[in-house]
Amino acid sequence: MRQHTERDNLVICTVLVELRCCVAVVAVKDKYKVHPKSVPGGIIRCNVYRPKNTAKSPVIMTYGPYGKDTHTSEFLPHAWHDINSAQQSEHSAFEVPDPKFWTEKGYAVVRADEIGTGQSPGFLDTMSASMSDAFAELIEWAEDQEWSNGKVGLLGISYFAGSQWRVAVRRPRGLACIIPMGKQVRSNQYGLAGRSKNDGGPETIEGNLSEEELRANRTDQDIDNLKAAFRDDEYYASRDYNLEDVEVPLLSFGNLVHLRGNVEGYMLAGSRYKFLRMRSGRHDLPFYSQVEVGTQASFFSVFLKNDDVDGWMMGKQPKVMYQAQKGPFDLKSVKAASGTIYDWRIAPEWPLPNTNYTRYYLTPDLKWTPNQPAVGVHERLSYPSMTTLAKPFSYQFITEPFEKEPEITGHIVAHVNLSVTRKPGGTTPKDIDVFFIMRHWNADGSERVFTGTIGDFAAVTRGCQRLSLRKVNKEHPHHRDFRLHRDYFSTDVLPVLPGEVYPVDVEIWATNVVVLPGEKISIEISGGDTPGIGPFVHEGGERTEERFGGTNHLHFGPSHENYVTLPIVPQ
Ligand SMILES: *[C@@H]1O[C@H](CO)[C@@H](O)[C@H](O)[C@H]1NC(C)=O
Ligand SMILES: *[C@@H]1O[C@H](CO)[C@@H](O)[C@H](O)[C@H]1NC(C)=O
Ligand SMILES: *[C@@H]1O[C@H](CO)[C@@H](O)[C@H](O)[C@H]1NC(C)=O
Ligand SMILES: *[C@@H]1O[C@H](CO)[C@@H](O)[C@H](O)[C@H]1NC(C)=O
Repeated sequence: MRQHTERDNLVICTVLVELRCCVAVVAVKDKYKVHPKSVPGGIIRCNVYRPKNTAKSPVIMTYGPYGKDTHTSEFLPHAWHDINSAQQSEHSAFEVPDPKFWTEKGYAVVRADEIGTGQSPGFLDTMSASMSDAFAELIEWAEDQEWSNGKVGLLGISYFAGSQWRVAVRRPRGLACIIPMGKQVRSNQYGLAGRSKNDGGPETIEGNLSEEELRANRTDQDIDNLKAAFRDDEYYASRDYNLEDVEVPLLSFGNLVHLRGNVEGYMLAGSRYKFLRMRSGRHDLPFYSQVEVGTQASFFSVFLKNDDVDGWMMGKQPKVMYQAQKGPFDLKSVKAASGTIYDWRIAPEWPLPNTNYTRYYLTPDLKWTPNQPAVGVHERLSYPSMTTLAKPFSYQFITEPFEKEPEITGHIVAHVNLSVTRKPGGTTPKDIDVFFIMRHWNADGSERVFTGTIGDFAAVTRGCQRLSLRKVNKEHPHHRDFRLHRDYFSTDVLPVLPGEVYPVDVEIWATNVVVLPGEKISIEISGGDTPGIGPFVHEGGERTEERFGGTNHLHFGPSHENYVTLPIVPQ
């Protein structure tokens, strides 16, 4: 890899008052050739923001598809409005650190457009191996620059968090630590005419491409996801990686909606120094809050500047910290959305020590109770499959009002006995998708709604499972009773025959919630999405009427116990 010289197109754009900014063109060629359609080599365009009067700085880098030149206020105007003003500048972009703030702290910020997006030409293949390989090369390029001190840290939310895990397992030279914090991409494809009208940001430097060229120059993740169903399919196999291979220090920041990956990453990473933080609120506001930016700066200070002011390497920082979601949440409040209303709790490990995994049973009269129900006659609750968010149908099992104050923090597993039968006049169903959602009820009977990623209404947590893929690999070293391990290989498919009753365990995403006396919680079972799921619905083309259409049944009876195992933390 090399940096293009002036002749090669290195554009010095402006020298700004508080920082130096240039657009660098980085040639990648060594490893960017994994996708059959991707040409070896290519260029990545990135903005380099450097502090003035500093010869060598540590580097904070992001590499992603949302447009290095698209200002947050254009990309997501309503989000921009609520962001901590100390983190707003003319250089702000969606989900990435603000260059003005970080250059003032002595860091260089490199913000790159992923290949095929923004101003980086080439084949667009989100989350692919070739994307991550190119990212690794970009990190090594930054390490080599005469203006860098050779240490590169990664910091970003959502897509920019996912990409950090993927590149960290590649262990690129110069990568010193990561802080992953848990919209659309196609509207920012390289060469797309009128792009500036979609998301703001500039038109493509080398001009527009034709519709045929655009189509030939991208692969659509939605379509690829439809075609590839198993982890051993080429599409997923090429993207697969082992979190154990991550060895750099990491600070994994999760929130309600992005929590699963952050917890998985923390638990499985091979890093000696790893920390987990979980907070409530939207995905973007906490990232820019004064407290969190302070934590990010403290962490970078250790691993990028060799200055351990807060004792991260000396055991002075808790391994795990989380906000206990206790008390009301106002969806409309910016304070709540910024994740500043709940108190922090500290734990020495995750899952929390002394977690008491307790079964809460579902009963045919829609109760959710810790008392094992008396063995009754066979009964079943029947519900339509293929319901949608627009027209949901579900059974809700609800607890009695709590008397004490249970804290539920950790991993949840549901166990149910299910079957499917043909609808009158329908075809023979071949599979079942089961959906769970957990809700919290205020003492006055109203639902406590939390914020999802972008201020949408979110329930406490959820999970879903396809029955043909119910096989659990209990031999796998990562398997725990509270954290199921499924391989999802094509060879794992099990039959789903109409009229047969199948027991299935369903992972419900790890969460935390404190239920006050008088409040209740509920668990809902459905054949489709129900309100509180946020923008990430499961209504893709693979869920065909032909395959899933039918009536689903939840079975109760002597050999048919249904329960949800909750992680109760003794107070
Ligand atoms: C690309 O398309 C946009 C919108 O149609 C247009 O404004 C722009 O001039 C085009 N760029 C070039 C270089 O033709
Ligand atoms: C993508 O577009 C470029 C034009 O910038 C073209 O040269 C190239 O052949 C295209 N790549 C593919 C894979 O079609
Ligand atoms: C776990 O919770 C159950 C149900 O409340 C209780 O009976 C049991 O004693 C608890 N176990 C521990 C180890 O606290
Ligand atoms: C239903 O689940 C129970 C465990 O709760 C299991 O023992 C049983 O085999 C399942 N029933 C059937 C018919 O598969």
